[in-house]
Amino acid sequence: MRITKSELEAVAVKPAQYPEANRYEIAFAGRSNVGKSSLLNLLTGRKALARVSGSPGKTRTINFYLVNDDFRIVDLPGYGYAKLSRSETEKWGAMMEAYLSKRPGLLKVVQLVDIRHEPSAQDVQMYDYLRYYGLDGVVVATKADKISKNQQQKSIRQIRQKLNMKKEDAVIPVSALKRTGQEELLDVIESILNK
Ligand code: GTP
Ligand code: MG
Repeated sequence: MRITKSELEAVAVKPAQYPEANRYEIAFAGRSNVGKSSLLNLLTGRKALARVSGSPGKTRTINFYLVNDDFRIVDLPGYGYAKLSRSETEKWGAMMEAYLSKRPGLLKVVQLVDIRHEPSAQDVQMYDYLRYYGLDGVVVATKADKISKNQQQKSIRQIRQKLNMKKEDAVIPVSALKRTGQEELLDVIESILNK
């Protein structure tokens, strides 16, 4: 699949602000600073569809992007940013719960983890949560350019183990910097949409 058109359709902090549930949706989740916005820009071939930031925690809203006038990519707010207060963390949890628990058309949540680090306790928790809702099965290992091919294979095994992934589940190494891995991810997205 190629993405030829993408546009920001809605920015939401609560369900009343979501676009009408008339499309399939693939959402992206991950720790703050993991490279989510960079990946969305890579997938859509746009330089600044999603804002890339040096300071983590920039994306505090749920952003809905309409893709190819067909389906939506949904950018979920990052977690694990150390400086969030307790009430902000609670707000984050409620926002995620509201979206993930009952969004018609939501097919899958792609979980992002940094290829350089073993998945954190929060990554594991997030993935368990996705499993609970039947939205698990696709993980992207970001910033693959930072380590060698050999190390990548090791990391992927570690990610599979730590997240307790099934054999048929996918871990896709991607580099937004080197522009690698996006085709494989788009193929996976296409097969999810066509199921
Ligand atoms: P928040 O929205 O702030 O939570 O972050 P995010 O997950 O959207 O990450 P973002 O795309 O803003 O990237 C965070 C930092 O990682 C930026 O400095 C990016 O340039 C860098 N980065 C993202 N992807 C890659 C990659 O594939 N390789 C390398 N080397 N750096 C990357
Ligand atoms: Mg972001």
